[in-house]
Amino acid sequence: VAGAGIFAAPAMVRSASAQIHRTPISGMGGGMTGGLAARPLAAAGLPLKPLAILPSASGLPNEFRASLVAAPFRAALVAGASTELWGYNGMAPGPIIELREGQRATIEFINGLALESTVHWHGLAVPPDQDGNPMDPVAPGARRTYSFDVPPGSAGTYWYHPHAHQLATTEVAHGLAAPLIVRAADDALEGMPEVTLMVTSIALDAYGQVTPGTSVMRPMSGTSTTFGGGNLLVNGQSVPVHTVPPGTSERWRIINATADRYLRLAIDGHRFAVVGTDGGLLGEPLVGQVECLLAPAQRVEIVLTASSQKSARFALRDLGYPNDGMSRVGGELLTVRTTTDAVTPPVQLPSALRPIADLGVATVRQRIVLSTGGMGMGMSMGAMGQFLINGKSFAMDRVDVQTVVGRVELWDFINTTMMDHPMHIHGTQFQVLGQTIAGVTTPADYLAWRDTVNVPAGTTVTIKTRQTMPGRRMFHCHLLPHEDAGMMAVLGVSPA
Ligand code: C2O
Ligand code: CU
Repeated sequence: VAGAGIFAAPAMVRSASAQIHRTPISGMGGGMTGGLAARPLAAAGLPLKPLAILPSASGLPNEFRASLVAAPFRAALVAGASTELWGYNGMAPGPIIELREGQRATIEFINGLALESTVHWHGLAVPPDQDGNPMDPVAPGARRTYSFDVPPGSAGTYWYHPHAHQLATTEVAHGLAAPLIVRAADDALEGMPEVTLMVTSIALDAYGQVTPGTSVMRPMSGTSTTFGGGNLLVNGQSVPVHTVPPGTSERWRIINATADRYLRLAIDGHRFAVVGTDGGLLGEPLVGQVECLLAPAQRVEIVLTASSQKSARFALRDLGYPNDGMSRVGGELLTVRTTTDAVTPPVQLPSALRPIADLGVATVRQRIVLSTGGMGMGMSMGAMGQFLINGKSFAMDRVDVQTVVGRVELWDFINTTMMDHPMHIHGTQFQVLGQTIAGVTTPADYLAWRDTVNVPAGTTVTIKTRQTMPGRRMFHCHLLPHEDAGMMAVLGVSPA
């Protein structure tokens, strides 16, 4: 493992796709756009397709059984080339896994990639040895079975993706990501039409092949064309069109499954209600919202009531979000069109959705300092730079922070860098208390369950958190190039 180094895997990837490189596609490449300009993708503006749902092979209602195969496949995304994507069961994004609270899930994973991989159930409290950690890689050609109980009270919108050591960016950027939805027996919004919108980004090189986002590389090397760039896709489609009768209210589950893009979401001419976050429904709807920042890996559930005008056309868009001084162009993600049908009568949102109890009194406070290191690291890291937690780069066999099952703790994420970092803790849903800039603390205005929180540049974000199962948990920045470059650490959870 030690010899594998950070460049070993990308080299393999390059040679694996070398045979499909022919001539550059005209009008693409050149690399002078810095990847910030979207490139044309085939099939923009087609009707929005729902993602497939992975069927359970079990006849028992309290059991979910299925297989997932990760493997390369070809897709026609640009004229003149077929793009190699990596998908689950031949799809990118992969199929939705729908589970119920209290179910037993048994999922066989077959690794048909040329790289090691894992499946991580992002946001769900599954036992650490079933969570697809980098310590438990599945070798190319190998298989393993993941099994876990879906925790009571976990109803919400999650996702699954690979988490192999230093390969997260490459594997996610090639298409390995999919939604995981947990349903409750009682859901305050039961019966409302639902749409799952999985946002991913894809950056293609001059040959129409995927070039994984390399946020950490670009500022130094000037050669990467993909920094935060590429096209944003919704359910794998380029600006698909979603058609509804005028006045229809829908529940949208939006997942930021990009490797490294912040999404500042807004809907032309519409306000919406935020009804849920990473770990499911809020206590009550937050109505009248005009925009919502969705950091990499975060999810939001909103209720949108479409315009009551017939044949209206408006967009869900990304307004763009600058990080580390780089401006980002946003763009249209999804077009919504209303039909000429009669106006759907308005729906009254329930005033209470699902109670959220405060996690309780914290007895321990931990400091988690985010920093960047110097570049004097020799050839092994090249110009990547260091992304550090408490002054250290990730090491798989080191425990960085200790906790005990059930212990409620305050964690201060102290961001000393000049860019934002979306911080994620495995195996739990936590509560954000507030943020502090230059000694001034702003408390969070509502309680919500989250597994990923944005920690803005120069800011301290304080959360209340607790683990429920012993073992080793990861916590890390979910800008995947930062995770791969060392901004990850191990939380050792000892039994109570
Ligand atoms: Cu979504 Cu540790 O990851
Ligand atoms: Cu980061």
